[in-house]
Amino acid sequence: MLNIQNLRSQFSVLRNNPQLSYLDNAATALKPDCVLEAMDHYYQYYGVNVHRGVYRLSYEATEAYEHAREQVARLIHAKFEEVVFTRGASAALNLVASSYGLSHLKPGDEIITSELEHHSSHMPWLNVAQKTGARLVYVPLNSEGRITVEAFRKVLNEKTKVVALTYVSNVMGYETPLRKIIELAHQYHAIVSVDAAQAVPHRKVDVKELDCDFLSFSGHKLCGPTGIGVLYGKEELLKELSPIEFGGDMADDVNLYTMTFKDPPYRFETGTPMIAEAIGLGAACEFVSSIGLEEIAKYEYMLKEKAIEELKKIPHVKIYNEHAETGIIAFNIEGVHPHDAASVFDKNDVCIRAGHHCAQLITKWLDTVGTIRASFYFYNTMEDVFKFVESVKEADLFFTGR
Ligand code: ALA
Repeated sequence: MLNIQNLRSQFSVLRNNPQLSYLDNAATALKPDCVLEAMDHYYQYYGVNVHRGVYRLSYEATEAYEHAREQVARLIHAKFEEVVFTRGASAALNLVASSYGLSHLKPGDEIITSELEHHSSHMPWLNVAQKTGARLVYVPLNSEGRITVEAFRKVLNEKTKVVALTYVSNVMGYETPLRKIIELAHQYHAIVSVDAAQAVPHRKVDVKELDCDFLSFSGHKLCGPTGIGVLYGKEELLKELSPIEFGGDMADDVNLYTMTFKDPPYRFETGTPMIAEAIGLGAACEFVSSIGLEEIAKYEYMLKEKAIEELKKIPHVKIYNEHAETGIIAFNIEGVHPHDAASVFDKNDVCIRAGHHCAQLITKWLDTVGTIRASFYFYNTMEDVFKFVESVKEADLFFTGR
């Protein structure tokens, strides 16, 4: 059992805003004290550059930065060399597409993706398709809006070279049956790039068990700082990839007309890296691990189920993803624009997101202008659920008079 009050007491945003019901966790998670302290400690005690200085403080900073890489590797069951720090999940997903995609794909090749993708998972491959002549192929979603193994089988063939799919949709909260999909993709020698931004913070993710080739996620949705994300890549694949950014700290030998690069992960981390952010992310990995990812998944699902049960009692509420496996609810109030509804939630200190959530394909598939999204995390409470449900009723009454 999670000790929610004890966990909540470790978040300054919750201490400083006791009235707040923060249900926008799919956009970003709040940061616990241990993350802020780890970053502050770096700046206060040894805040210098890494990999460069030949003095004690620089060794200390390097050690802390590389220790953070170990902490991330442990969280997702990767090897140390397989963890690349990036500016965020979007940068990680772009790195795979720009490095692997632009150099490996040619006209006639196929990239399988889906209408459930966040723009950061879809657009980099749309760009690759436009530049290389490869073709984007979409897994037809089932009537609920899910990716199924059966539908995936129908689009997979010998032309498939890349599969780029989300692990958990940021709008629908559905979990993609990735293990089977990856197994099938590998039978056709296609590589699989996974957008795990909504998965790693909320459930146990084991990259070895999954056998994905690349997997990207952000730090800030995992209780870590903004400005840092992670690209996991299989060691042999990362070794084969060329960097897409060139400069400080990633070079091995530089001459007038030739250059060689360091081994991964360093060849992908040019310039002064996000040192404090990496250290903060390492602390965040330890923090969520100590709570237990399986416990987190169960708890937020329980809150989501209660919220769905209550929402279903309200006439004129349309829930788009009633059976999602995760803590995300996408819905609308009939006749009320999602942005209008958001103002009532805000008045009640309930933070939700309204709009297309940077996932226009699924919003169009749902045939709506946008959705209202509530997304839970381990520090939410039943009180948050009831405040949220009351706000839905109030928005309905205020805008429609029903
Ligand atoms: N991608 C984040 C979201 O879904 C920001 O809200």
